[in-house]
Amino acid sequence: NKILFNDRIIERENVIDIEDRGYQFGDGVYEVIGVYGGKMFMLDEHMERLKRSADEIQLKIPLIINDLKNKLRELVLINNLEEGIIYLQITRGVAPRWHTFPDETVSPVTIAYVRSLKRMTDLEKNGVSAILTEDIRWLRCDIKTLNLLPNVLSKQKAVENSAFEAIMHRKNIVTEASSSNVFIVKNEELFTHPANNFILNGITRKKVIQLCEELNLKVNEETFTVDTLLQADEVFITATKLDIIPVVKVNNQPIGTGKPGNVTKKILHKFQSLIQ
Ligand code: PDD
Repeated sequence: NKILFNDRIIERENVIDIEDRGYQFGDGVYEVIGVYGGKMFMLDEHMERLKRSADEIQLKIPLIINDLKNKLRELVLINNLEEGIIYLQITRGVAPRWHTFPDETVSPVTIAYVRSLKRMTDLEKNGVSAILTEDIRWLRCDIKTLNLLPNVLSKQKAVENSAFEAIMHRKNIVTEASSSNVFIVKNEELFTHPANNFILNGITRKKVIQLCEELNLKVNEETFTVDTLLQADEVFITATKLDIIPVVKVNNQPIGTGKPGNVTKKILHKFQSLIQ
């Protein structure tokens, strides 16, 4: 198992310093990139988002994006990864613990590793249940930072309530889920929270919107309430490697027929054709 550590591909070993700012402050950004058939899915979009997240926290990515892309390709090859994910993170580097940014001589630390992971086809086929929970995160959820404690707590709450995901809401407005975006279908139209500071603009979300256009399905990037969600015909979540998962129950209440809906299936079918 080989990893990318800064600009080198090395054997996996303990390379992280106890004063790495990612470790101490969550001061860094990350990406999870899907790999299908040995190829990285929507790599350019992930790189663009990484760049944006880094810019938003004033972190300078130490590698040229093209070199980083090549290193990731090399990592997939060297580990013989067919199906799975790449986890990539860049932190502000190693410095004596002090909240303010370290001086310019400290360079950011890049790591990436791969994990072999099969597609979750039974979840995709049967759907999952979700719970509702208050969105207690900060106001810059658009940045893919390492600070995921509210997400961790939400997802843990879901699992403790025998659910797969936690759908979050700010007051009455549904934002997204703990590690995925949320779509609802009502009268053959889709609704999803607009890509602003309250959600992470998912790469899978983006692809779904694009596929809906090709399928002549209207997508409204508009906010909707918890009640609207509960009364939706269909609900599904999207994320890297989960792809598109129907949500058939929310807070123990069935959504629509309580089975994966036709619009969701149609989009999923189209998505599958891209990754096979
Ligand atoms: N999570 N919203 C949140 C809060 C997320 O953490 C994620 C992804 C998404 C979906 O984004 P994308 O389609 O680009 O994967 C939305 C990743 C997979 C994770 O943290 O493991």
